[in-house]
Amino acid sequence: MQILYGKPVAEQILSRVKADLASILTQNKAAPRLVVILVGDEPASCVYVKKKTEIAQSIGILSEVIHFSSTTNPEEVYSKIEELNHDSSVHGILLQRPLPQSFDRFDISTWIIPEKDVDCFHPTNLGRLMTGDSSKIVSCTPKGILYLLDYYKIKIDGALISVIGRSAIVGRPLCQILTNRNATVIQCHSKTKNLKNLTLQSDIVVVAAGVPEFFGPEFFGKKSVVIDVGIHRSSNGKLVGDCSSKLMTSEISALTPVPGGVGPLTIATLMENTLFCYKLRNGHS
Ligand code: GUN
Repeated sequence: MQILYGKPVAEQILSRVKADLASILTQNKAAPRLVVILVGDEPASCVYVKKKTEIAQSIGILSEVIHFSSTTNPEEVYSKIEELNHDSSVHGILLQRPLPQSFDRFDISTWIIPEKDVDCFHPTNLGRLMTGDSSKIVSCTPKGILYLLDYYKIKIDGALISVIGRSAIVGRPLCQILTNRNATVIQCHSKTKNLKNLTLQSDIVVVAAGVPEFFGPEFFGKKSVVIDVGIHRSSNGKLVGDCSSKLMTSEISALTPVPGGVGPLTIATLMENTLFCYKLRNGHS
């Protein structure tokens, strides 16, 4: 079985973004600026946000975190985002999820203007994917998965692909961009009947269900390529995915490890999206 590591793919994306940015900065004085908004102190979010700003800075993107307490009124966060929307020195804005319950998950997706929406959460950006256009802002994790499949030369065109999960951050946009690449996509979720029948038939299965270690070898065949998007802290402190560790020793074709599979790609594609927003403003696209 082949292990599909994300690190070399992420490194390739980051070095491309870094080189592209360096060549643009010889003509343009101001560097791109990415503002990350964190509400509350969820430990995993704090780690992700720190990593995002560190990697941004390492490749020449200015990055800062605006931190609100978990009891902040959504109106206050909205006002800050409105201010950043109008600030011409800011090229990208990211509102870290999850947010406290007081935030309406549909409303928040419209707060950041499409031109600065580095996550691709705005209905305009998501809607463009649905029209068949994957050439502009594309959701970070789904785009990372496509880069990973391309890097390891796993054929998407004509493949039967099951995507388990229907979130706005992974499942839904992934189905669109895979369809745009000529895959036949089965969108599965927690209410899907006979899930195993669908996954067993599929060439590629992307598991983004958010359930720790749920998917064992019985879900997959010898030819299955399995992409595990899950990341959870188990009771013994280890990081685990949505797939059971039994998959590591099972007879499938390929598997992304957790950690070290899809994870590193999400930040790399976020940097690519930030550069995209910057170029859009500066007329480089
Ligand atoms: N929480 C976990 N992953 C992400 C992400 O990619 N973007 C945002 N905004 N929040 C997240």
